[in-house]
Amino acid sequence: MIVGIPKEIKNNESRVSMTPAGVYEMVKNNHTVYVQSMAGEGSGFFDNDYVSAGATILNTIEEVYATSEMIVKVKEPIASEYDLVKEGQILFTYFHFASSEPLTKAMIKAKAICIAYETVEDAEGTLPLLTPMSEVAGRLAIQQGAKYLEKPVKGRGVLLGGVPGVAPGKVLVLGAGVVGIQAAKMAAGLGAHVTIMDINMKRLRYVNDVMPPHVVTEFSNEFNIRKHIKTHDLIIGGVLLKGAKAPNLITRDMLKEMRPGTVIVDVAVDQGGCVETTRPTTHEDPIYIIDDVVHYTVANMPGAVPYTSTVALTNVTLPYALQLANQGWKKATENNASLHTGLNIISGKVVYEEINEAFGW
Ligand SMILES: NC(=O)c1ccc[n+]([C@@H]2O[C@H](COP(=O)([O-])OP(=O)(O)OC[C@H]3O[C@@H](n4cnc5c(N)ncnc54)[C@H](O)[C@@H]3O)[C@@H](O)[C@H]2O)c1
Repeated sequence: MIVGIPKEIKNNESRVSMTPAGVYEMVKNNHTVYVQSMAGEGSGFFDNDYVSAGATILNTIEEVYATSEMIVKVKEPIASEYDLVKEGQILFTYFHFASSEPLTKAMIKAKAICIAYETVEDAEGTLPLLTPMSEVAGRLAIQQGAKYLEKPVKGRGVLLGGVPGVAPGKVLVLGAGVVGIQAAKMAAGLGAHVTIMDINMKRLRYVNDVMPPHVVTEFSNEFNIRKHIKTHDLIIGGVLLKGAKAPNLITRDMLKEMRPGTVIVDVAVDQGGCVETTRPTTHEDPIYIIDDVVHYTVANMPGAVPYTSTVALTNVTLPYALQLANQGWKKATENNASLHTGLNIISGKVVYEEINEAFGW
């Protein structure tokens, strides 16, 4: 198969959908890979690295779309790419169709085969192509939180690990899912005292089994949250209700009960956030302050560390991309139930029911 890797052109997107290691695997399987010039630059992979791995570099995005049978991307195509998509072309990328009717209509019109990363589901019902980005965001949440706890950026002026003779900082993690566990692990590694809360006892039992004793589990309810926000320095929001807006576990009035300089990193911002005062921010302007509480609410946190994020993402997407290339999309989606759940639009027909529901079609 001829596989195309365009440069991502969405604002602030520095990831790339295939590393030189992926190209090497594709070429080993007798496929041809066309990479747009400078596509990997933002993630630290240069044209020479791709050529050494067996790719051919093309200068323009138009050439990549025009020559490829399968396009592997990171983000959904933006408007300027809609007309480049060809009939019958496979597109394997994040789409999030339900949040964009224009994109959905454009892909229907293009008659492409759209396979969405975010709906690829494994036998346990988890989403393997979303997990690595939650892992990145969970770990990054502590790195960012520790930074904004510093006094010059209006934080409390607390060092998370403490020093001999001074107690460590306290981190409250809401949600013991992928984000929450990674955040708790990082905070514990720094020596902070960690309280992690969830409503799922299975998750709390697991955390209790695997984490060191300075990570304490507690059932999530309003009473316990109100108690802990008064004494914790850094609060991480990692709550998710599948397919719904995150619940507001921290309401506006609670900010007054926190000490000045407390930092909230609301990772769940992309689902509306679990803090009432959360609104999305960008890497250029990541924080704002309400009632002396610092809010860090960047909607695409993994974008801050594109090298790590690219490698983490492509580690999990490559095996699926290889199956699509080796077997063609029909056989590959017949043979692999996870890949089958990734099918969203086939030759102009929406085959993922939630998309039709989202638009009342
Ligand atoms: N901002 C970013 O850049 C970024 C990046 C990756 C993920 N995210 C978001 O982070 C959020 C968490 O993702 P995840 O992969 O960890 O999800 P997950 O499903 O693995 O974990 C969510 C956890 O929240 C728990 N929960 C639900 N209601 C709760 C409540 N009332 N109190 C406490 N816990 C509760 C669930 O039981 C579950 O354990 C999602 O909204 C995801 O989209 C954001």
